[in-house]
Amino acid sequence: MALLVRNGRIITATDDYAADIYCAGETITRIEPHIDPASLPHSPVELQVVDASAKYVFPGFIDPHVHIYLPFMGTYAADDYESASKAALAGGTTTLIEMICPGPNDEPLDAFETWRSKAASLASVDYTFHMSVVRFEEGIREQFRRIVELGVASFKVFLAYKGALNLSDEHLFAMLKMAKQLGVIVTAHCENADAIDAMQKSLLAEGRTGPEWHGPSRPPVVEADGVHHLCAFAELTGTHVYTVHTSCDAAVREALAARYRGVSVWIECVAPHLVLDEKSATLPNFEGAKYVMSPPLRHKSNQDVLWNALRSRTVSTVATDHAPFSFRAQKEMGRSAFTMIPNGIPTLQERIDLVHTKGVTEGRIDLQTMVDACSTQAARIFGLYPRKGTIQIGADADLVVYDPEHRGTFSLKSSHSRVDYNAYEGWEKRGRASLVTVRGEVQVRNGEFVGTVGRGRFIGREPTHG
Ligand code: URP
Ligand code: ZN
Ligand code: ZN
Repeated sequence: MALLVRNGRIITATDDYAADIYCAGETITRIEPHIDPASLPHSPVELQVVDASAKYVFPGFIDPHVHIYLPFMGTYAADDYESASKAALAGGTTTLIEMICPGPNDEPLDAFETWRSKAASLASVDYTFHMSVVRFEEGIREQFRRIVELGVASFKVFLAYKGALNLSDEHLFAMLKMAKQLGVIVTAHCENADAIDAMQKSLLAEGRTGPEWHGPSRPPVVEADGVHHLCAFAELTGTHVYTVHTSCDAAVREALAARYRGVSVWIECVAPHLVLDEKSATLPNFEGAKYVMSPPLRHKSNQDVLWNALRSRTVSTVATDHAPFSFRAQKEMGRSAFTMIPNGIPTLQERIDLVHTKGVTEGRIDLQTMVDACSTQAARIFGLYPRKGTIQIGADADLVVYDPEHRGTFSLKSSHSRVDYNAYEGWEKRGRASLVTVRGEVQVRNGEFVGTVGRGRFIGREPTHG
C-alpha cells in the first residue's frame, strides 16, 4: 500500500514548510509542493490518501530511554512489547531504544537474546537496544564485542543502585576503553551509589521511611558527582558519553564543564523532570510513591534550567525513562521503606503531548526544537540517522500527523501502559497525534491503535563514535 500525505505543514529540526509526502512502500520517495494522486501509478485501493490540512507532519518520534522488560527491585516492569508499543505509537513515538538490564550473574549474550526475544513477536514500534554493562571481568569482555557486531552500538552503565546494577571503577574504566576502541557511545545513569546507600541507611535509622524521603536520600550533588566522575573517566579514555535522565542544574553544569574541557558528552533529560517537581513525592496516603524515580523529582527551579538548555540545544534529547510499576501491586512493596519502592514514572505515551503542551504552546521551545530533542538528536547520536529522525527522501516513512488544536486530558482511561495510574491524570492536553505511520503503514488513527502487533523491527546500528 502506498501513502500520500497532502496539505500538511512539515516540521523538521531545521525546517517548517508546506508540502505533500509520497511514500512508496516503507520509504519516503517524493516531497513536493503538490502531488496529484491521479499522477501516481496506483488504483484508489492501492493508495491511501491522508489529508493533513491544518496539521503538522513530524518525523516519527524516537524515545532513546525506555524500559519494557525490566527485572528490578524485586519485581518486573508491568509492560510488555505489545502494551508498550501501543503506548508509544498512540503518543507519536515510532522508534524506541530499550535498555537491556541483565542481573549481576547473567551472561551478556544471553541477556541480549532474552531482550530480543521479548520484542520479536510483540513489537509494533521499531526498536533497538542499549546494552547495559553491569559486570566486565576479563572472561566476558568478548561477548560485548559480539553484541556490537550484532547491531547494538551503545552501552549503558549505572553508577547508582549499589549491589544490583552499579559497576566498579576498575570495570568502568576498562569498559570505557573498549567502547572507545569499538566506536560505541556509553550512556550512563550518574548518581553516586555509595553516597546514596549511606544516606538511605541514615534516613531509615531515623524512622524516615515514606516516599517523601526518596529525594533527600539522593540530592542534586549526588547526581553532579556522578556526572563529574563519568566525565573524568571519559576525559581519560576519550570515550563518547551520554548522561541519561539529567535532572538538575548542578548535573547539567558538570556535563557542560566537561564539554568545555573537550569531553564528548551529550545530555538527555526526561519528560517527568521537565513537568513534575519534588512536591509530588510528598503526596499523602503513600500516593507520593507514584512519583518515585531516580534521579528523583527536583525543586521546580530546575525545570526552567532544563527547558532553557533544550531551547539552546545544550541538552540534546527528551526521553521518558519509561519504567512502569503499578501503584497497588508494586509501588506498595515500599510501604515500610522508600528504598523498596520500585523506581519509575511511566511516560512513554505522554512524552510528546507533554512537550507540546508545556513546551511549545507555553512558549518555552519552538516546534523545530521539539522535533530535534524528541527525534532527530536521538537518531544522530545513536546511529539511526537519516533513516530515522527526519523527513527526507530515502528515510523510513515514519510520520506523525499532529493536530495542534486538539484539546483533551491526560488520563489512565486512554493509557495503553499496563499500570494502574497516570502520573499526569487530569492535566490538560493540547495537541495529539491524529495519525501515525511506521514504515508507511498506519498504526494509529485518532489516538487508537489500528496497527499490526509484531510488525515492529529490530534496527541494527553501526558504531558512529569512533
Ligand atoms: O527511576 C528510574 N529511573 N527507574 C528505571 C531505572 C533507571 O534508573 O533508569
Ligand atoms: Zn537510570
Ligand atoms: Zn532508565
